[in-house]
Amino acid sequence: MEITGKTKICAIIADPIHHVKTPQGINRLCEETGKDAVMVPVHVSSKDLISVVNGFLAMQNLAGFVITVPHKTAVAKLCDELSDDAARMEAVNVIRRSADGKLHGAILDGKGFVAGLREEGIEPEGRSAYLVGAGGAASAIAYALAEAGVSRLTLANRTQEKAEALRKRLAEAYPALPVSLGGRDPKGHDLVINATSLGLKEGDPLPLDVEGLTQEQIVAEIIMEPAETALLKAAKSKGCTVQYGLPMLKNQLKLMAETMGL
Ligand code: ATR
Repeated sequence: MEITGKTKICAIIADPIHHVKTPQGINRLCEETGKDAVMVPVHVSSKDLISVVNGFLAMQNLAGFVITVPHKTAVAKLCDELSDDAARMEAVNVIRRSADGKLHGAILDGKGFVAGLREEGIEPEGRSAYLVGAGGAASAIAYALAEAGVSRLTLANRTQEKAEALRKRLAEAYPALPVSLGGRDPKGHDLVINATSLGLKEGDPLPLDVEGLTQEQIVAEIIMEPAETALLKAAKSKGCTVQYGLPMLKNQLKLMAETMGL
């Protein structure tokens, strides 16, 4: 692809930066869809964040930028406008820079997850869901599941207080949705999701009890590497439908490109 004066620029900011894969994903997507846009990785430490964001504001051909660790919360505070879920989570992972130099923030992990499920023909609406994890990714997925219309939601996490805090926030935002705290057994739930980091490393313990899984259940991961975690292997052996981490990423990339108006 040829970069010219008409090419839209977008960036990803992170610290460290060397591991980010979003630029390859976005640049490939732009190439495949014939978009005249390019994403560059920008290494920004927290002390320089405000200067960099001010610089971005002045760049008239900058469509937007993606934000990852550790800047998601700090950048949310610098936005002129936040999507509803970004406001609730006080975090952003993508910004659109409008022509008037304003910053519009959104968080897309949850929406990407739900879009990935739908792409695989799995509709969360009306299904009961069990979600393990209470960190940033889990919170985003919990809100997106609530928004998508799950019939009830059970939250489990190693640190109970974090699960309880998430339960409370969800109950306030979605008063009609039954949200409860659960243990390690996802029995009785249609959709079982691991949103912890357990499974990333070989030898990690399983995030939940797999003994009672049945073939009616769908088991989903957000981990992409390895593609088939120990949880998914166990779920497959029980006859469950499994959802890999890749569709979430692909859908999130699409949503990021759309949000930045590429
Ligand atoms: P992310 O933004 O990817 O969600 P995070 O906010 O650090 O990352 O959250 C990590 C999640 O994985 C948390 O739910 C964490 O549980 P705690 O809240 O108890 O820390 C979970 N997690 C990480 N390591 C774990 C482990 N060894 N056992 C159980 N849960 C673990």
